[in-house]
Amino acid sequence: MTIIDTPEAMRAWSFEQRALGKTIGLVPTMGALHEGHASLMRAASRGNDLAVLSIFVNPTQFAPHEDFNQYPRTFDADSRIAEATGASVIYAPRASTMYPERYSTYVIVEDVSQGLCGGSRPHFFRGVATVVTKLFNAVLPHRAYFGQKDAQQCAVIKRMTRDLDMDIEIVEMPIVREPDGLAMSSRNAYLSAEERARALCLSRSLFEARESIEAGERDAHTLVAQVRAGMADVQVDYVELVDGETMQPLERIAGTVLVAIAAWAGKTRLIDNIKFEV
Ligand code: PAF
Repeated sequence: MTIIDTPEAMRAWSFEQRALGKTIGLVPTMGALHEGHASLMRAASRGNDLAVLSIFVNPTQFAPHEDFNQYPRTFDADSRIAEATGASVIYAPRASTMYPERYSTYVIVEDVSQGLCGGSRPHFFRGVATVVTKLFNAVLPHRAYFGQKDAQQCAVIKRMTRDLDMDIEIVEMPIVREPDGLAMSSRNAYLSAEERARALCLSRSLFEARESIEAGERDAHTLVAQVRAGMADVQVDYVELVDGETMQPLERIAGTVLVAIAAWAGKTRLIDNIKFEV
């Protein structure tokens, strides 16, 4: 496994592999890998000749008051997971390479990045779309793998690749959960034992919403109220019921439905969702 830290060297490697007829799968991450990332890596290794893991804690997707400095950096452990899940390359560029002095170009995906996390974190999707574009331009992947836990992020990246004619297949992989239901996240490491126990109400209330829909409930307001009521142990940021592709709010449950929630357990902001066809 090779570690590459500049876009020039990354592109040179990818051009060489493409010339040999090899396909490349990319898993973009900010490191602090967990089983959710490992599942993306395994899918990238299975679905392509070569898999690249990128690790870059992207400053432009954090607001000044957010956890950029605190975000866990665990490169050695991440390398072991990368190796075990079949990575050929870890692409780990430096911040000064990604954003040199007088950096001034950003990618803004309108519409689908409004609301939900885009409402609470207005800077977030501009940073994500920009860095993912830069990662795509360096790694030149045939496919890129993202987790459904960040469902709005997936929708933004899909829209961006479509709108900007990027010839990259976006593969969305299911949420990986702890045995007790908590969605895996690098930020779970911030939770105290007591906060972690309270955080279980996120997945619990989503599973209850799924049961209600399976039992025939079709009114979005009723479901949102039900999910909110189940989240009394945490401080709710949002509970939304939206179309799974456009992220527009739904009145009635039909089509591809996403129930998306965000909440604070202490100082840690967690997100979770369920998605299904009705
Ligand atoms: O999901 C993440 O870890 C990040 O938002 C991503 C896609 C790697 C961009 O920094």
